[in-house]
Amino acid sequence: MGRWTLALGGLLLLAVTALAASGRWSAGAAGPDAPRPADVAEGRALYLRQCAVCHGESGRGDGPSAAGFATRPADLTDGRIMNPLPEAFLVNVILNGGPAEGLAPTMPPFRGHLNETQARQVVAYLRTLAQPPFQPGEALPVVEIPGAPQQPIFFSHLIHAGSYGIPCLYCHADARRGPAAGLPSVERCMGCHRVIGAQDNPEIRKIHEYWNRRQPIPWVRVFSVPEFTYFPHKAHVRAGVACQTCHGPVERMRVVGARTGRTLASDLLHLVGLEPPAPPLTMGWCVNCHREQNQRGARAPLDCLACHH
Ligand code: HEC
Ligand code: HEC
Ligand code: HEC
Ligand code: HEC
Ligand code: HEC
Ligand code: HEC
Repeated sequence: MGRWTLALGGLLLLAVTALAASGRWSAGAAGPDAPRPADVAEGRALYLRQCAVCHGESGRGDGPSAAGFATRPADLTDGRIMNPLPEAFLVNVILNGGPAEGLAPTMPPFRGHLNETQARQVVAYLRTLAQPPFQPGEALPVVEIPGAPQQPIFFSHLIHAGSYGIPCLYCHADARRGPAAGLPSVERCMGCHRVIGAQDNPEIRKIHEYWNRRQPIPWVRVFSVPEFTYFPHKAHVRAGVACQTCHGPVERMRVVGARTGRTLASDLLHLVGLEPPAPPLTMGWCVNCHREQNQRGARAPLDCLACHH
């Protein structure tokens, strides 16, 4: 008896740990603690030695070599753009160069000159330059979805929606007025990229190639429900359901992926007799939310024909 309780307890613990580890969208702990002054000082010394030639002693992107670049070395003091960028993003750019995050190769890789600890020290220093000032915990961790597809262009939501804060509806405007959210046209990309990054970023040059050939960009579809179901964006957006409720924190993804279907965590919870929440995009998921919303006075349909025409 005692042994069974123990075994069951162990299984439950395993299930709860698996659920916590799967952490729906939280992926990783909260932001880092405030940096130690010694790391900031070390980071400053490394910065002046390795980075100031392009980014300038002050970090404003005005170093002695800066003038030679079509895409200006970034202004690392602009807190509006830098503060939302996760530490993992910054360390990746520093060690592996701009292309590791879709940026221009004129931002060189420093692996071989800096180890990971040193890259983190440089980041700790960069955080002190930001105006408005960086608040610890402001940059939430990067969210990586296993199995996210490779897209024809390395388009980063983390940069567009996260760092630059371009509103979702600026690019997915149909979500407000029709069933599909829609993807932006090449023309919409060109509105900004006729100029931004056009000369030295090969990922951005690809946009110009599609534009010149009058071809749409063949994006790989990520979220979809089967043909025999009907999902209207408009009704959900009008009812004030945030995009992230269904799609996760897209603004923290370098590549968008979907977490759908069964998981090890939900299987383990079933095994110990608990009812885990239905995985996204299944019928149970739609219906459960509609029931919940209706208890709060919404009028979300539960009849079959509303979702199955
Ligand atoms: C040879 C010039 C050069 C050097 C040296 C250089 N950078 Fe850069 N860096 C660039 C350029 C150019 C960009 C802009 C790339 C783009 O926007 O596509 C950039 C972009 C960045 C970004 C991205 C910022 C953003 O808003 O996304 C970070 C972070 C960065 N650099 C940090 C560093 C650090 C730290 C060092 C030193 C270890 C360094 N850079 C050294 C040229 C340089
Ligand atoms: C409202 C302006 C705007 C629009 C619209 C826009 N971008 Fe960008 N894009 C930016 C800015 C700003 C950057 C950051 C440039 C930098 O730091 O070098 C960027 C960076 C990029 C980069 C390099 C970094 C990355 O994301 O990997 C790519 C590739 C890119 N954009 C592709 C696209 C595509 C494809 C579209 C259309 C679907 C698009 N952009 C629409 C403003 C825009
Ligand atoms: C600058 C334009 C731009 C902005 C801003 C933008 N997106 Fe996107 N979005 C795209 C492009 C291009 C794709 C197709 C490539 C991809 O999947 O990353 C896409 C894909 C997606 C997808 C996956 C589509 C599929 O195939 O299932 C979702 C979900 C999404 N975006 C949600 C969002 C949300 C939520 C926001 C705001 C937090 C947002 N987007 C902001 C351009 C943008
Ligand atoms: C209630 C859940 C829900 C909300 C809220 C939601 N979506 Fe979706 N989204 C879906 C589903 C389900 C699909 C798949 C639809 C299909 O296959 O017809 C989808 C598909 C997409 C796609 C793929 C292209 C398309 O048009 O189908 C994009 C892009 C997208 N959503 C962006 C957004 C954005 C941006 C918002 C917020 C303005 C948003 N979604 C809000 C559930 C949602
Ligand atoms: C996060 C909660 C949530 C999820 C998940 C969700 N819905 Fe909804 N749904 C709503 C709300 C809220 C409304 C609007 C109710 C209102 O207008 O009062 C709605 C309305 C609808 C409507 C009615 C549209 C109209 O024009 O009246 C349909 C159809 C629908 N949803 C289909 C789906 C499908 C299919 C899925 C799953 C793929 C889904 N929903 C997932 C919350 C959700
Ligand atoms: C709120 C929207 C919604 C309502 C209401 C709804 N369904 Fe579904 N249904 C879905 C979605 C979305 C799927 C696709 C799920 C998937 O791909 O896993 C689905 C799948 C199905 C399937 C395919 C089998 C399966 O499980 O994948 C059947 C059969 C079905 N629904 C029947 C019904 C019947 C009968 C009713 C009424 C009692 C109903 N549905 C009500 C959204 C809905």
